[in-house]
Amino acid sequence: MSGQFDVVVIGGGPGGYIAAIRAAQLGLATACIDDGVTPGGKAAPGGTCTNVGCIPSKALLQSSENYEQAGHGFAEHGIEVKGLALDLARMLARKDKVVRQNNEGILYLFRKNRIAFFNGRGAFEGGAENGWRVKVTVAGTEPQTLTARHVVVATGSSPRALSVGGAAVPFDNRLVLDNAGALAMPAVPKRLGVIGAGVIGLEMGSVWRRLGAEVTMLEMLDVFLPGADEAVANEAWKIFTRGQGLAIVLGAEVREVTQAGGGIAVEYAAQGAAARRVEFDRLIVSIGRVPNTAGLAAETVGLELDARGAIEVDAECRTNLPGVWAIGDVVRGPMLAHKAEEEGVAVAERIAGGHGHVDFNTIPWVIYTAPEIAWVGCTEQQLKRDGVDYRCGQFAFAANGRARALGDTRGFVKILADAATDRVLGVHVIGPMASELVAEAVVAMEFHAAAEDIALICHAHPTLSEAMKEAALAVGKRGLNA
Ligand code: FAD
Ligand code: NAI
Repeated sequence: MSGQFDVVVIGGGPGGYIAAIRAAQLGLATACIDDGVTPGGKAAPGGTCTNVGCIPSKALLQSSENYEQAGHGFAEHGIEVKGLALDLARMLARKDKVVRQNNEGILYLFRKNRIAFFNGRGAFEGGAENGWRVKVTVAGTEPQTLTARHVVVATGSSPRALSVGGAAVPFDNRLVLDNAGALAMPAVPKRLGVIGAGVIGLEMGSVWRRLGAEVTMLEMLDVFLPGADEAVANEAWKIFTRGQGLAIVLGAEVREVTQAGGGIAVEYAAQGAAARRVEFDRLIVSIGRVPNTAGLAAETVGLELDARGAIEVDAECRTNLPGVWAIGDVVRGPMLAHKAEEEGVAVAERIAGGHGHVDFNTIPWVIYTAPEIAWVGCTEQQLKRDGVDYRCGQFAFAANGRARALGDTRGFVKILADAATDRVLGVHVIGPMASELVAEAVVAMEFHAAAEDIALICHAHPTLSEAMKEAALAVGKRGLNA
């Protein structure tokens, strides 16, 4: 394959590899450069999501939930489990296998779509006649130069390190763990500390609690899950703290992190109380992520970054440079794999002369705790703040036949609709399979449905989705099973 392309994509995560596939499908000569490698040195495309994010975390969430169910849930079903034992090495090996299957799947898709894949680092080298030059450095070979009319930067993000008193607490992935370390602990720690009770903190905290760790989470904000609907956040708080024994401290200011014995000591002060010192065997730091722009040589071509270090883009992912686009975690907006994918497809369509579109109002959010939390659209507190006149319908899984049969009746579905037009403005679910249920709400919102539209659709019985129908009925105060 020559070094001349229509499109060069730098980064092979869900944003980059999907952009490359769509560009190739649209007839554009496409290359994708990604530096991911397995511990054994093989190509591992798929980015954070595939290697140290969405996929491995969901594998461990499933395995740990199975373990918890076998230990605490099966008895209620009349199933006695004797001699239950945890084989953590096998659980981690299964997670790694799931990841490898996804790496292989992406490599197959690159071949199938005739995408030139370079397993190395990409960096801007300068302008070219009618495009750009990108330097590719693949380990063990001479650097080469690719030229392209369009460059899509999809370099993703990295974990943000904790800073205490102006000094960074570095990740060593032995005692102080980032997401990669949190997914690969070789033994269950007795005492696990987590800094940041956001999405990663809750998911990884849940995994290790189910496997036997005593988990304490230190969250800087006074509010729990401020992005979620308040009713959902309150329900989650009750379930996680009282029901599951996750110790979550709000308003916690971390003042010192030091090594202590074989573990790590954290001194913090919370909500005006005297400072406390707690010791942990391991500490996960999950306080957000920073865009990956180092090593891109953005300055060589004058690619503009914003104050956070993200690549500055317009609503259509155009940077300040003609023919240079940026998508996913390296730009503004939620750091979600499906948001990155949607932007990747839209950019490929635009490059090919089509009309890509991403609707930021209908991007779903999911937190894969048990029960799961998922939502799309506005929260009730946002509607109140914006002075929107709305109606609310809510239905508890406790009154849903399928949830009772499953033995998981925690949570509810809540639908917010415009008071005048009945148009659905937001849907919030906490409960079993919320991640799957939210898809119906996304479809409804994309089609500008009214709550009554959902209420009038025939939902199979007995399914969890009937809770969605009942919540929609409740918006019009005509619930049947409540
Ligand atoms: P990335 O996936 O980060 O991919 C970027 C790739 O580019 C990486 O391979 C990187 O090494 C490579 N790269 C960087 N610079 C260069 C360079 N100069 N040359 C070549 N390659 C380069 N999101 C969800 O939607 N659902 C989830 O369940 C979910 N779970 C998560 C769990 C965890 C623990 C974490 C950390 C994240 C999770 N996310 C989840 C977020 C999701 O992983 C990211 O939003 C998503 O991966 C972003 O995709 P991306 O393509 O923008 O970047
Ligand atoms: P996050 O933004 O979800 O949570 C970070 C938390 O840390 C916040 O609550 C914040 O207030 C707190 N915090 C920040 N600084 C702190 C400090 N110094 N001390 C104590 N607390 C502090 O970020 P997280 O969990 O790191 O995840 C990163 C990204 O990955 C998120 O943007 C999320 O979108 C994505 N992700 C998505 C998942 C999903 O879709 N299910 C799963 C995991 C991650």
